[in-house]
Amino acid sequence: FHVDTDPAAAQKGAYPYYMLKEIDEQPGVMRNLVQHYVAEDGSINIDKELLDALEAADRLYIVAAGTSYHAGLVGKELFEKLANIPTEVHVASEFAYNPPLLSERPFFIFLTQSGETADSRQVLTQVNAQGYPSLTITNVQNSTLDREATYTLLLYAGPEIAVASTKAYTAQIALEAILVKAYGEAKNIDKVKEFDVAAELTKVANGMQELVDEKGTVEKIAKDMLATTRNAFYIGRGIDYDVAQEAALKLKEVSYIQTEGFASGELKHGTIALIEEGTPVVAVITDPKTATHTRSNAQEVLARGANVLFIASRDVAQEGDQVVLPEVTPLLSPLLAIIPAQLLAYYASIQRGYDVDKPRNLAKSVTVE
Ligand code: G6P
Repeated sequence: FHVDTDPAAAQKGAYPYYMLKEIDEQPGVMRNLVQHYVAEDGSINIDKELLDALEAADRLYIVAAGTSYHAGLVGKELFEKLANIPTEVHVASEFAYNPPLLSERPFFIFLTQSGETADSRQVLTQVNAQGYPSLTITNVQNSTLDREATYTLLLYAGPEIAVASTKAYTAQIALEAILVKAYGEAKNIDKVKEFDVAAELTKVANGMQELVDEKGTVEKIAKDMLATTRNAFYIGRGIDYDVAQEAALKLKEVSYIQTEGFASGELKHGTIALIEEGTPVVAVITDPKTATHTRSNAQEVLARGANVLFIASRDVAQEGDQVVLPEVTPLLSPLLAIIPAQLLAYYASIQRGYDVDKPRNLAKSVTVE
């Protein structure tokens, strides 16, 4: 007779690891966010005070660490491309001791799954001391960054147990999109009015479901491509480069394969020297504006013997691309492109025999600077 006293373990259900469970939960996380924040009539349920404070700002400063920083990179695209508000993204540990020159009316957005990251807390303390308004986007209600910021928006993603963050990343991006929608509606921005965030996120949820249902394909690719390699690269341009950085972090965290996310056009300026026979290179291609360019960069590494995996959106996919992503609005493509990358990381770790939920040297929440 065995009583399971670990409530978290009980929640793992039929899954061998939390990371896989949390990857699979992402379509539901998208739907949850729509339910929480978007009313039947399409209006967004976000505090008017927060929107007023955002409207009063002349520049946004997103501050975060790790995976949350990567969600911030996509947030910048959303804020600038849809709502025309200049946005900077900063690594918290850098900002704390080497802050940039601030605009006249800055507004700070802290992205943090745990709400406890010391590097981010350190910046918020400084921001509060200077009297600037701030918003924390977090998964943990009542966490320090929730309590200490002027405003909070919750991710409602459910507890994330695996050290490598998956559903918090996609939840942060989706919530940034919802926030941009609320902000742009309040400011009467045409581009935002055309952006039906509930419909788009529902499309994303359906696309994610297709991708997690096809995980067997990615499992096989991981086996063929990553079983013994010592290093790997993700490449992309623009928003695909943002994804490449998060995808690379995921793979290195759990598989210990040295992986870099690279701007594909920059490879030839040095890093291409590392490409050898069989080096895995994953090309992320979702943006029609740069698809041809990234493909020609992929050709450059193919010609040097690299083993290239193409992850491409349906509208820009070509015959032979191994992973084809369902079509969604381009600015939300990271929400789909990251799914096969999370799965690749998961399977590479499992196949190499590691404890994917508890990678060496890493902690879920880092409360020291
Ligand atoms: C740690 C975790 C990462 C996470 C980072 C930021 O390093 O291992 O997965 O992205 O902290 O955490 P936060 O809770 O602030 O998002």
